[in-house]
Amino acid sequence: HTISWDPVAAEKGEYRHFMQKEIHEQVRSLTDTLAGRVDFDEGRIHLDTLNLTAEKARKIEKIIVTACGTAAHAGMVGKVLIERIAKIPVEVDIASEFRYRDPLVNPNTVVLAISQSGETADTLAAMEEARKKGAMLWSIVNAIGSQAMRLADGCISMQVGPEIGVASTKAFTAPLVDLYMLAVLLGDLRGELSATERKRLVADLSLIPDLAGKCLDREEEVKKVAYALKDTHNALYLGRGINMPIAYEGALKLKEISYIHAEAYPAGEMKHGPIALVDKNMPVIAITPRDPWYDKMISQVEQVKARGGIVVVVATDGDEKARELADYVLWIPETPWLLSPVITVIPLQILAYHIATLRGLDVDQPRNLAKSVTVE
Ligand code: G6P
Repeated sequence: HTISWDPVAAEKGEYRHFMQKEIHEQVRSLTDTLAGRVDFDEGRIHLDTLNLTAEKARKIEKIIVTACGTAAHAGMVGKVLIERIAKIPVEVDIASEFRYRDPLVNPNTVVLAISQSGETADTLAAMEEARKKGAMLWSIVNAIGSQAMRLADGCISMQVGPEIGVASTKAFTAPLVDLYMLAVLLGDLRGELSATERKRLVADLSLIPDLAGKCLDREEEVKKVAYALKDTHNALYLGRGINMPIAYEGALKLKEISYIHAEAYPAGEMKHGPIALVDKNMPVIAITPRDPWYDKMISQVEQVKARGGIVVVVATDGDEKARELADYVLWIPETPWLLSPVITVIPLQILAYHIATLRGLDVDQPRNLAKSVTVE
């Protein structure tokens, strides 16, 4: 189906800002993302607009995800999902790098562009470059009828409606679910999944809208943490594995709208530099859900604590270890780990939003930034 929209006519409703409204729309947008694409009875995924056949799926030797900003962070999660579930090697390449590097691409390569607007100049140029080199070209796009949708051989359209806030939120979580569905579909078509695995992966999708809703119900608790952090000048975000890109996304949200210097690192890199920054004035936001990297993350949080840092963790309900260690906890409900980035990012969106509003900033119109970057 086709929906057209007029951003000017979009309403904030009961919310103070579009960003807050869009954060809260995620239960709906994630529900819509699944609608018509997931067959829970058979345990199968349908993404018809990709025009994918088993023959095409088996031909793929490599996938290169290309995007900018928040969309590139979604691609980084997609790498873990597709490699794990479909066993296809994936690279993630920032579009402005891909387009000028003479990348190694051939007809058995899929270049997958991710873009909310579908009009980002570098992303479109990366797609043109991929086309010239004969790659299969796919896209995950929100704006219907945009160039990134038209250029591609196959497209997954995000089902999130218009996004007005410059800092992307609902157009981040939807493509995470799209990439998960794509991974399951590819894994199925390539014969990489047993029926049991496939059914479990598909069944887990049904949990996502409710789990997102549980995070939104906790806005007041997150606001208290925002109050504690609102005057900081710096913040360091740490994550590993499938949640490493969520560290990048959390830091990006904070810097975009609060103008606080925020850096993200894969937590395993701590000893190679960033630990030198840790003292009692450096808040460290660590993403520590119950995923396969949990123990490693906890031991890194211990090292930060030992150096006097202020620690905020994103942790799973009932995690006593996290409660003991951290100064503040952003609680999330228990979530299947391959889908955990969809959930761990939500408290970080809310945190950035409230820090920016407590600082009196206009989160919908941050300085120097544009919603859609249509020039180089
Ligand atoms: C701008 C926006 C970001 C967005 C990026 C990519 O920088 O401010 O929120 O992530 O462009 O945009 P796209 O429309 O291609 O997803």
